[in-house]
Amino acid sequence: MNTKRKVLVLTGGGDCPGLNAVIRGIVKRAKTEKGWSVIGSIEAFNGVLKEPMQLMKLNNKTTAGIHVKGGTILKTTNKGNPLDFAVEQPDGSWTTSDRSDELIEKIKSIGVEAVINIGGDGSQRISQKLFEKGLNIVGVPKTIDNDVSSTDFTFGFRTAVQIATDSFDKLVTTAESHHRVMIMEVMGRDAGWIALHTAMAGGAEVCLIPEIPYDIRKVVDHINSRYVKGKGFVNIVVAEGAKAKDGAVTSVISDEVGYEHQRLRGVAFALSAQLKAAGCKADIRETVLGHTQRGGTPIAFDRILATLFGVKAFEMVLDKEFGRMASYRNNEITSVTLQDAISDYNLIKTDSYMVKAAKAIGISFGD
Ligand code: F6P
Repeated sequence: MNTKRKVLVLTGGGDCPGLNAVIRGIVKRAKTEKGWSVIGSIEAFNGVLKEPMQLMKLNNKTTAGIHVKGGTILKTTNKGNPLDFAVEQPDGSWTTSDRSDELIEKIKSIGVEAVINIGGDGSQRISQKLFEKGLNIVGVPKTIDNDVSSTDFTFGFRTAVQIATDSFDKLVTTAESHHRVMIMEVMGRDAGWIALHTAMAGGAEVCLIPEIPYDIRKVVDHINSRYVKGKGFVNIVVAEGAKAKDGAVTSVISDEVGYEHQRLRGVAFALSAQLKAAGCKADIRETVLGHTQRGGTPIAFDRILATLFGVKAFEMVLDKEFGRMASYRNNEITSVTLQDAISDYNLIKTDSYMVKAAKAIGISFGD
């Protein structure tokens, strides 16, 4: 008879460098306690909801060396909210149904004592709802956007900044050679963290973020001041969620069933057109970095943070700290309530030292 205690692990939402390091951290910490087995649900909660269930044994063999690898060995989805699950009707149309009771029943039926949900704000909102329904669940914050509150950093963010900075550096030399304006669009949803950190690391002339709507005239004036006697160049970092004062975000329509977000994309091209219309005479080129920011090997910081979160998450299970999320605060690994973590987004404060310092070194936010 299998008398092992079971913990279920899943990764939800967009992937992010460091997910595998969390999984490995959980497995390694669980190994130091007698009698635990770790099971993974494939593609967030979908693995449990499927018939037959799609689960994976997580042990030393299946997780060896994975901390170096990007993506997630458990796969992921942002179309798997069990409380609002997309269901196809016989006529081909789609409705949604709440499958959370069935999910909790199935989790209990396989003898799972606790669940570790590795995901961003959307996933942790689901964690909170399932906790309120009686599931023993803990959260681990992930996202390249760094927008989960109650933690100083999420893992994956710094890798994204490194990738964006490497690309930015390449765009600088070509901007300089052609006296061009180069616009680089980075991810981040409604938060400008990736943009601001990349602008600071790379030495951008202009940084446009959702938290500071820009005045296109001011951006053009700043660009023009760089073109003296026809010479000069400008590198702009724009966050995908940035918008002009009185303007709207640039997005594309998603036809993916069950996809819950607005897909932000294309602000680099919108900005380029706005600059031209506002009298910018320089040649402009646009680069959209897209998913390169989420792919590949996590940098050392993210591997470490993710591993610490994995170890902590398992210890939270041992200590029955359910309804809480692992968190990195003031250089300590701690935990916070899921309720606190989801009550707000972590956005850039416009009066923060980072913004003031960026302005002090000449970066324009167009405000
Ligand atoms: O939340 C992470 C993120 O990469 C955002 O920065 C971006 O807007 C979004 O996910 C892209 O989502 P998808 O992979 O579904 O296109």
